[in-house]
Amino acid sequence: MIYITRRERFNAAHRLFIPEFSDEKNLQIFGKCSNPNWHGHNYELFVMVKGEVDKKTGFLVNLKALSKIIKHEIIDKTDHKNINIEVDFMKGIMASTENLAIGIWHQLEKPIRELGVELYGIKVYESENNFVEYFGTGR
Ligand code: NI
Repeated sequence: MIYITRRERFNAAHRLFIPEFSDEKNLQIFGKCSNPNWHGHNYELFVMVKGEVDKKTGFLVNLKALSKIIKHEIIDKTDHKNINIEVDFMKGIMASTENLAIGIWHQLEKPIRELGVELYGIKVYESENNFVEYFGTGR
């Protein structure tokens, strides 16, 4: 088994808040990410896939094809968008980095399998110092 990671980037806006709470209470819970007028992050996404090396090509996966899937399923939907209101796979879900990583996993799992490899992990950097990793359920 061998692993390969493709990095992509997107910029998106969000707000973390519980609607029934006051702005003050949301600020206590979510900090600056609760700003009522939204704010943005420069997200960095790492998509890790695993499988066996093809004997002829020496490759695990066609990285161009992998990048195309990530662009189509994730980047086109999130880049320069508002995660709370514009991203279909995040509708009705708290726009945290944790939920974003889980949502991205579910978007990519099937199309990556169709490429002949398995999705191994999703890593999302919301900032230089904060990142989330998701390896699917049951691990
Ligand atoms: Ni934020």
